[in-house]
Amino acid sequence: MSYDAHFRVWRGDAAGGELADYTVAVHDGEVVLDVIHRLQATEATDLAVRWNCKAGKCGSCSAEINGRPRLMCMTRMSSLPSGETVTVTPMRAFPVVRDLVTDVSFNYAKAREVPAFVPPPGLAPGEYRMKQEDVGRSQEFRKCIECFLCQDTCHVVRDHEENKAAFAGPRFLMRVAELDMHPLDAAAETGLDRKRAAQEEHGLGYCNITKCCTEVCPEHIKITDNALIPLKERAVDRKYDPLVWLGNKIRRR
Ligand code: SF4
Ligand code: F3S
Ligand code: FES
Repeated sequence: MSYDAHFRVWRGDAAGGELADYTVAVHDGEVVLDVIHRLQATEATDLAVRWNCKAGKCGSCSAEINGRPRLMCMTRMSSLPSGETVTVTPMRAFPVVRDLVTDVSFNYAKAREVPAFVPPPGLAPGEYRMKQEDVGRSQEFRKCIECFLCQDTCHVVRDHEENKAAFAGPRFLMRVAELDMHPLDAAAETGLDRKRAAQEEHGLGYCNITKCCTEVCPEHIKITDNALIPLKERAVDRKYDPLVWLGNKIRRR
């Protein structure tokens, strides 16, 4: 079965833009990205859109569909209210390059600020041993496809450009949490305190656990419950640990 749908798609660039109206054919089983491709092939041949796998795995086709951050290739037309206009806009938290394409380099800059895993001294990679629950935790976080929908939706930066310098966002706080909870990470032995860094360098305190990041994650990673809240608990424990408190006091003298 086919029908005509009404689409409003944001067209423009860094200087500004507006929503453009299109009526476009939709076939059974299609996703929003199929319709955007049809637009490109017909009435909007210069429409800019980023995509790659069309399978929910590359994280490229992130946009906002009816105001909600989503992957265009994983949003079935049949899941949207029938007969209503479908509005497609670029991710709001990042600067527009053109049309639906945004400049997500903020995220790569934040990724570079998180120091890498520090291998345990005296153990070769093949000799690492971990409990299954520790492996499982890392595996959950490693499902991330770097779509940056969580970064886009978090209210700390979504409408607050001024917070971007101090806040790494859920995706990268999750990375800090993964490393801090990694039983083999030897960062502490090199003098790197990931809990302190989470608070003082990556802005953990800005997160007030609204869970919007978790709601939009296409990989269904429990970002808030399994990464951010445990990291907050660990950071608070560190702060109120009498030995840490004493150490800080002595260091400040
Ligand atoms: Fe996307 Fe989820 Fe990774 Fe965030 S954590 S970038 S929403 S896959
Ligand atoms: Fe933002 Fe997620 Fe925290 S949406 S406020 S990082 S729980
Ligand atoms: Fe790869 Fe959508 S095109 S996730």
